[in-house]
Amino acid sequence: MEDTVTVHGKKFELFITSTEISQMVDELASKLNNDLDGKDVIFVGILNGAFIFAADLIRRIKMNCRISFVKTASYKGTQTTGRVETLIGLGDEIKGKTVVVIEDIIDTGLTLEEVLKQLESHQPSEILVAALLFKCDACIKDIKIDYLGREIPNDFVIGYGLDCDGHGRNLRDIYKIKPS
Ligand code: IMP
Ligand code: MG
Repeated sequence: MEDTVTVHGKKFELFITSTEISQMVDELASKLNNDLDGKDVIFVGILNGAFIFAADLIRRIKMNCRISFVKTASYKGTQTTGRVETLIGLGDEIKGKTVVVIEDIIDTGLTLEEVLKQLESHQPSEILVAALLFKCDACIKDIKIDYLGREIPNDFVIGYGLDCDGHGRNLRDIYKIKPS
């Protein structure tokens, strides 16, 4: 693994290794397996960023469950636009079910707040949130994260599904932007 990478003209340094990520996902899956056994569960991954985390997490889930994806976006480059677009990709399938939202990273919390609002309108029996990363200093919303990988400082990160203008999602490890 590289200590530094240049992606989309920006320099990033190694932050969380794939081994550490794997341990985080193991722990999250094990908590979910303990807590949700016997429930009618549907996992809902938020595209695009959560696709790798969701794929890794779901393969560690032991109970009978379903997985679906929704799409929204609030980011341009390394700055949040503060705008959240409508949720696409969701039908009636969550009504009366335990929904576990799978999100890669929670930054301002705007995306998650809007996603939760829209999911609630489909009347699930409960909604739980599983997020890999949380930028606690950037969050401006009162967000309850039921299953969290770890808190991180307010630095822009890429890799493991997270992108910089569409680049860098394919990196196995997570990198953070180097101060210039
Ligand atoms: P929020 O709405 O500000 O909480 O931003 C959440 C969304 O922005 C996440 O779903 C990510 O896809 C994206 N995002 C937030 N922080 C980062 C980052 O550091 N790198 C890449 N994407 C990010
Ligand atoms: Mg996202």
